[in-house]
Amino acid sequence: MTRSEQRSGPGRSEVQAHRGASAIAPENTIAAFRAAAEQGAEWVELDVALLGDGTAIVIHDASIDRCSSSTGNLGDLRAADLDQIDAGAWFDPRFKGESLPTLAAVVSALGELRLNANVEIKQHPHHKSLDQLVKTVDEHLRARAPQTKIMISSFDSAALKRMHEINPSYELAMLWSRVPDDWRDVLRSIPATTVHLGYKSLSIGFLEEAVRHGIKVRAWTSNDPRELASFWNAGLTGVITDDPSVYLS
Ligand code: G3P
Ligand code: MG
Repeated sequence: MTRSEQRSGPGRSEVQAHRGASAIAPENTIAAFRAAAEQGAEWVELDVALLGDGTAIVIHDASIDRCSSSTGNLGDLRAADLDQIDAGAWFDPRFKGESLPTLAAVVSALGELRLNANVEIKQHPHHKSLDQLVKTVDEHLRARAPQTKIMISSFDSAALKRMHEINPSYELAMLWSRVPDDWRDVLRSIPATTVHLGYKSLSIGFLEEAVRHGIKVRAWTSNDPRELASFWNAGLTGVITDDPSVYLS
């Protein structure tokens, strides 16, 4: 490796704000995406799921219990219920009144904030079909501002496969906590070119093999640059972090 190839961290375009800047604002809300943009992030990661009536919303869990002032399962909620849900005060009273955003509202905010998005498709038992989920997400993303770049990630290889069939233009990232033995077969079957891996499972050996096969690897969820320091020179591509400022300074 030549001196010019030495990397001590990710470039600005390879720092993704996990659920927005979720260390400083309520996760997966417009406030968290705005905070990421204010920190200088170019990319946010966000989680998408459907309500019972098929409305696509941005939320991590299958219920609103943890991240709102209300309770209920997504499958029992409809778009009309969203007005009653406060998704900010649970995090800090300063964010009282923050809404639980629809994917449509977030796509529009991405354009205004000039952010790109890693859209993670969450599969939940209440979803009627994978097809409905993937098609709904793609329809919303097609309506994005022209400058908004999108990549799609999922722990579910079937969701990525279906997305590739519906719209082959997205970069697809397979999410794993640990790399399975058949990782190359899984990527080929989608097909996907990227792995998003729990940072505790990173190894120099895996990164070198990934580089050899032209596969990008991003690490989640790291909030301390010391955790990844030894991996940049081995080919780590990027990081997904709750606090983009620690990787952007
Ligand atoms: O994209 C990485 C990360 O979002 C995956 O885990 O559970 O935070 O969605 P989770
Ligand atoms: Mg996620």
